[in-house]
Amino acid sequence: MIEFKSVHFSYDERPILKNVTFRVGESESLVIMGPSGSGKSTILRLILGLECPQQGQILIDGQNVCTMRERQKQEIRKKIGMVFQDGALFDSLSVWENVGYYLLEHSSLSVDEVGERAIKMLGFVGLDAAEIMDKLPEHLSGGMQRRVAIGRALLSTDPKIMLYDEPTTGLDPQSAENVITLINRLHDEKSISSIVVTHQIADAISIGDRFVVIVDGEVVFDGDLRQLRDSEDPRVLLFLAPFRLSIAEVADKRFVNKQ
Ligand SMILES: Nc1ncnc2c1ncn2[C@@H]1O[C@H](COP(=O)(O)OP(=O)(O)O)[C@@H](O)[C@H]1O
Ligand SMILES: [Mg+2]
Repeated sequence: MIEFKSVHFSYDERPILKNVTFRVGESESLVIMGPSGSGKSTILRLILGLECPQQGQILIDGQNVCTMRERQKQEIRKKIGMVFQDGALFDSLSVWENVGYYLLEHSSLSVDEVGERAIKMLGFVGLDAAEIMDKLPEHLSGGMQRRVAIGRALLSTDPKIMLYDEPTTGLDPQSAENVITLINRLHDEKSISSIVVTHQIADAISIGDRFVVIVDGEVVFDGDLRQLRDSEDPRVLLFLAPFRLSIAEVADKRFVNKQ
């Protein structure tokens, strides 16, 4: 469904991604991990077609985003929902207007109809619509803002793929847990494929079917949890060193639960 084929990408001659190859299948949930500055957010920007690689290809449902016409690009983007690292809500719009933004701008639905859908969506992402819909985002906690951002992405275009950039960074443990539960629920109930960028290993483990580890713009690992736990690649070990024990523990627990 999304495929990177030997992608090389540079900013101003500075190589950021080097020969990156991976794919994400339908209703798969891929976690991309790696140290800060390794190129994770860049991968998401490339998927959205906001940048194009100097070499290699990025295919979405078999189509190359970078060679498409603008109209086609917009069609492809409709399949993809993006939740940016900081939520990126519109400060001056109320919560419900944020959630309904796309429909208010791009559909023929009346304001009341959009409002109804926004209220439903707020409920779906676990928020009390009556309580918060008329507030400005700044009056919500970080965790609530993140859920509003997810609701906005879902209501926009009914995406088949969701991209999340560091969805739990800066959240307290309970809010982080709520966001993770929501991401997993979307994946399980709506068969939405997800690509989640994170450097929080516990989140990664509770979300991913598959894991890609990227270090200095290179994919140094691509596999499942068991393979990750057992990897002996020195670059993977170096990245995972601080989390090694917890990975083994959680991985064992997960395997036991699945048996
Ligand atoms: N717009 C930009 N112009 C130039 N360099 C950038 C730009 N955006 C990111 N970079 C650089 O690209 C590298 C990878 O960034 P990024 O993909 O954001 O990493 P990550 O998300 O893994 O922390 C970093 O060294 C960063 O400084
Ligand atoms: Mg980033």
